[in-house]
Amino acid sequence: MRKYIIAGNWKMFTLRDEAAALAHSLVPLVAGIENADVLLCPPFTGLDRMEKVLEGTGIFLGAQNMYHEDEGAYTGEISPAMLKDLGVSHVIVGHSERRQYFNESGSFLNLKVKAAVEAGLIPILCVGETLEERESGATESVIAGQLEDGLEGVEIARGEDLVLAYEPIWAIGTGKTASPEQAQEVHAFIRAKLTQAFGADLAGTIRIQYGGSVKPDNAAELMGQPDIDGALVGGASLNAESFAAIVRSV
Ligand code: PGA
Repeated sequence: MRKYIIAGNWKMFTLRDEAAALAHSLVPLVAGIENADVLLCPPFTGLDRMEKVLEGTGIFLGAQNMYHEDEGAYTGEISPAMLKDLGVSHVIVGHSERRQYFNESGSFLNLKVKAAVEAGLIPILCVGETLEERESGATESVIAGQLEDGLEGVEIARGEDLVLAYEPIWAIGTGKTASPEQAQEVHAFIRAKLTQAFGADLAGTIRIQYGGSVKPDNAAELMGQPDIDGALVGGASLNAESFAAIVRSV
């Protein structure tokens, strides 16, 4: 049985005080949830304060990005070791906004996935197609390519050491959610690709999140699908009640 994983991706929102306040109001609202891992991903600047707020709550702390080297002359970058030093356990890799605005390529993201696993961080590798790709029937080939690039040579000991997120780009921040059937179809395809890459036992325990306009009123139906193991939530995660309602929907 896979445990759900619900992550809040706060993107480039919240100053330190706002991040701490949001986490403070969220903690009691999700206390006692046992069938889901809950993860908050504030901007880098919020991590230090958030580590203290989340201490002892069972809520995991995640980062939205990282560089793959442990240290060095890489101005402006943050290493896996630095994230670990801040109590971070998970890191989002290859969010479509990183691919689109910062030109992060599949081979570059592959280095990040490997570096995260090696450092003992759990990477959340994001994949997803554009509207044009979906409409031209290219969804599966796009996702397959992103998975092959991102996971090449990646070795994990346990399925729990890797998380995938299917985020159709046309559904991110647009209010348009993939229907549960559309999402399940792609999740099953991802599971099949994971089975080819890692074998059935590991693939059966890797969690695959859905992301893209997840809200309290569509979360339960999405997460009721057999291969949807959680959500990567953007906009709705900036409101404690909405995010808690999504967590509680599992
Ligand atoms: P959204 O963002 O929930 O605001 O659509 C999801 C994401 O980009 O992770």
